[in-house]
Amino acid sequence: MDGTFKDNDYSKVVDADRAHVWHHLIQHKGFETGEPKMIIEGKGIKVWDQHGKEHTDAVSGGVWTVNVGYGRESIANAVRDQLVKMNFFGGTTGSIPGALFAEKLITKMPGMSRVYYANSGSEANEKGFKIVRQIAHKRYGGKKHKILYRDRDYHGSTLATMSAGGQDERNAQYGPFAPGFIRVPHCMEYRKHEQDGAPEENYGVWAANQIEEVILREGADTVGALCLEPVTAGGGVITPPEGYWERVQEICKKYDILLHIDEVVCGVGRTGVWFGYQNYGIKPDIVTMAKGVASGYAAISCCVTTEEVFDMFKDDPSDPLSYFRDISTFGGCTAGPAAALENMRIIEDENLMANTLDMGARMMGNLQALSEKHAVIGDVRGKGLFIGAELVSDRGTKEAMDEKMVGAVVADCMAQGVIIGATNRSIPGRNNTLCFSPALIATADDIDHITDAVDQALGSVFG
Ligand SMILES: Cc1ncc(COP(=O)(O)O)c(C=O)c1O
Repeated sequence: MDGTFKDNDYSKVVDADRAHVWHHLIQHKGFETGEPKMIIEGKGIKVWDQHGKEHTDAVSGGVWTVNVGYGRESIANAVRDQLVKMNFFGGTTGSIPGALFAEKLITKMPGMSRVYYANSGSEANEKGFKIVRQIAHKRYGGKKHKILYRDRDYHGSTLATMSAGGQDERNAQYGPFAPGFIRVPHCMEYRKHEQDGAPEENYGVWAANQIEEVILREGADTVGALCLEPVTAGGGVITPPEGYWERVQEICKKYDILLHIDEVVCGVGRTGVWFGYQNYGIKPDIVTMAKGVASGYAAISCCVTTEEVFDMFKDDPSDPLSYFRDISTFGGCTAGPAAALENMRIIEDENLMANTLDMGARMMGNLQALSEKHAVIGDVRGKGLFIGAELVSDRGTKEAMDEKMVGAVVADCMAQGVIIGATNRSIPGRNNTLCFSPALIATADDIDHITDAVDQALGSVFG
């Protein structure tokens, strides 16, 4: 793969990028003297930059997306074949891949039944919020409209999803936000010492009970839904404590609150099962997904509901306002579901979820072994190939490591040709977790290569 483009001169492309592209989530001043990194080609778990340098990608395209790896010709062919036959028609009508992918997806989600197509994770979440708001109007005179979200969770970059955003540094300077979104406390056991009243025992039940307290304070008759990530991603790779989800489910049932699960990161195999919520026996009403649905080969997101939720939108055909009056133009693109179908076939045929469990256990073991050697690793947590290592300057006090030092570890790995991630501009003073989410095709050698680079980087940065 490498070598085919090494002789090419990408300087013109780099100049064009530097002159005209506004990159995501990055301060551009540095590009006035340095150059932006460009990824030119990918195969499997490897990518090559504009200088032909090879990297092992431990973060699936930077943001937990390319679950089946790069260079999948069968997905490209499925998309191409679909596009020449029928590329787009607005979503009031159906399409062959749209119908077939919805049918296949639902077989992986017992209890769920309807798929609403959109383009991004943010957009899918907004669909979920609009469904909740409309149900409030249809059933409860508009009163049961509040949407609860959790400290440290993230649901997207639009203003409504940021209104449900539990990451204060990410939200800073973008307010004011939309009303009717109410925060509940996080459930991060490692940092329970920072939460007033958190007990030593049964922390998970206590953390869930904090949600009930918010519901009672707000008035249960005003709360329509609770939106949560099964495992929090950018907020620190937070796995739920024992007993948490059982209690959350009980609380939702008790107060007639819809449970909206954001599977944008966890969905489609990342945690070693189809959906993260399936690890915890959760019965959601609304599930949203995006990134791994088509592994970035096409833009697609889905907002999936139960038949019970769906039925509420066809109960009164005589009322012209009673159905879900929402549209997403590009939700009618057929490339997304065509790519998603083939993506799902690959995961099944190549047994990638079993590999995710095996390789996830290997990576977790390697990182835990590193924590014996490097005192800066305060905690290692995760599920499947979705793992975080939180760095601290003092294990006893759990003082968060200075994020510049965390950045230095990421940069050192990059210099070694291994791309890892770190929580970024997310929680003030707490952007101290290294993030790992290699493609589900990762081999034992890939995993060892990644953790060896981390070992070396920690040694170089902290001695
Ligand atoms: C949990 C979660 N939900 C939603 C989103 C938003 O997805 P998108 O960037 O596709 O809008 C993200 C993006 O990182 C995410 O991590």
